[in-house]
Amino acid sequence: MPRFAVLGQPVAHSLSPRIHRRFGEACGIALDYRAIELAPEALPARLAAFHAEGLGGANVTLPLKELAARACRELSDAARLSGAVNTLIRREDGWLGDNTDGAGLVADLRRLGVRLAGARVLLLGAGGAARGVVPALFDAGIASLTVANRTAARAEALAHDLQSCGDIATCGFEALAGADGFDLILNATSAARSGRALALPATLPAPDAAAYDLSYGETAQPFLAWAASAGIARAADGLGMLVEQAAEAFQRWHGVRPDAAAVLAELRAERV
Ligand code: ATR
Repeated sequence: MPRFAVLGQPVAHSLSPRIHRRFGEACGIALDYRAIELAPEALPARLAAFHAEGLGGANVTLPLKELAARACRELSDAARLSGAVNTLIRREDGWLGDNTDGAGLVADLRRLGVRLAGARVLLLGAGGAARGVVPALFDAGIASLTVANRTAARAEALAHDLQSCGDIATCGFEALAGADGFDLILNATSAARSGRALALPATLPAPDAAAYDLSYGETAQPFLAWAASAGIARAADGLGMLVEQAAEAFQRWHGVRPDAAAVLAELRAERV
């Protein structure tokens, strides 16, 4: 049976094994998908060993995405531009590193009926999660992108590194005071993981704006609470993005795009 895995540290909480097994059942594809805990320093050697042992493919999660981009033999455009790999695709001579996070976000926003063509987008955060979604947002035809980050210099570095995708305005959070007119506000910070809510002005959203947190569950709640208080009616956490990025990876490995919505509905029913 072909073997697949998600690599991370910690990784026991990962929903990827469940999602991929469900996709496999739904598509009639037998597969063995496991979670493998891996320390960052072990990654390069283990990737070579996994290839030699015949692993069919893997997902990569925190904190290994940037390291994986440096350890792959070849990178897709999405992985090269974002400097992060979340999907390893098997090639004869080594791993092709890809990044399906951006495609997963865009697929979920479409599922939610959020219009991206012509949208003025505010992206909060300038770490690996933010970088991962920028190329796909431009590919989807957004009109403008502003990246706001606690450390403004990191937003500037992101804009510089990703300038081939499009023009990116940058600022620190304090410069958001009084800013307005954003059709879509994305939270890609890890502020809530450290127990802190972002202090954001209520002026930011345009009428009929949407808000989306790239994380899911409890971690997304502070940002979603801000969105509600700012009058944003359409807001969602990133569980759909997680399932959609998995569907994109599944398609690359197996040549079939599974029905992400069905698996998402199952996970929501279990209040994941
Ligand atoms: P990830 O891979 O999840 O993106 P990361 O690369 O460590 O993780 O990036 C974390 C992001 O969350 C950064 O944009 C970080 O801001 P800084 O660049 O200023 O560190 C942001 N972040 C983390 N904690 C935050 C907080 N308490 N308030 C605001 N932003 C925060």
